[in-house]
Amino acid sequence: MKLLASAVFAAVIVGAGPAPAQVGPLGPPGLPASRFPAPARLVAPIISDRWANEDQRERAGEAQRVMDFLHVKPGMVVADIGAGNGYYAVRLSRRVGPTGRVLAQDVVPAYLAELRQRVVQEGLANVTIGLGDPHDPRLPPQSVDLALLVHMYHEIQQPFGEMENLLPALRPGARVAIIDTTRATQFHGTPSALLDCELQAVGYRRVDTLPMENGTEYLAVFEPPAVAPAPETIRPCTP
Ligand SMILES: C[S@@+](CC[C@H](N)C(=O)[O-])C[C@H]1O[C@@H](n2cnc3c(N)ncnc32)[C@H](O)[C@@H]1O
Repeated sequence: MKLLASAVFAAVIVGAGPAPAQVGPLGPPGLPASRFPAPARLVAPIISDRWANEDQRERAGEAQRVMDFLHVKPGMVVADIGAGNGYYAVRLSRRVGPTGRVLAQDVVPAYLAELRQRVVQEGLANVTIGLGDPHDPRLPPQSVDLALLVHMYHEIQQPFGEMENLLPALRPGARVAIIDTTRATQFHGTPSALLDCELQAVGYRRVDTLPMENGTEYLAVFEPPAVAPAPETIRPCTP
């Protein structure tokens, strides 16, 4: 009984404390999801804030290899779209340094709250955390040199909206890099030809590729279009 009473008291004290601040979007809304066609393939559910065990990825040198390939340098602004638990965000933060910035973005507020704790604990002053919509990354206009989407493209509910609404955030010369496996989308991958077709539908052009992990995983680099297509002209792709 005494235990229960102290538990109730503790709960009241905890409940009376200030609510943790919510993470909000970093930029204005873009076009609504309703203007874009639905993808003509399945979308994988969000099931985790990470792709794989962080220590194993670190031992394999994944982020170093990817950042070298993408020429990530001090002073750059990199958007980590679908940042999850921050495997890339913390390493990007060290690479871009105090003159650069990482915009670590996700659509799950609980993941972002944990990521914010991690960023504070690790003292990463150049990481800004932002909430996106499933069809819109909600990033600041003209802010990004490189957008990185790692093991998350297949989870985007409205991929055409996401990729089109990303365009205003890209600075001149910015690139978009997507890492995924070659599995079907419902199994948390995106076959390479399907990715090309969906990105081309929004005007992007693939300019580089890095095969990873025994050919079952790849990194694809895209150049954005100079002019965004009208959403109504976008035709979905079949796998
Ligand atoms: C498998 S985790 C990968 C996390 C991290 N990129 C990594 O490599 O470990 C996929 C992440 O993408 C996020 N996500 C799914 N759809 C999204 C969207 N439309 N915009 C931003 N993030 C999204 C999920 O919430 C989840 O955190």
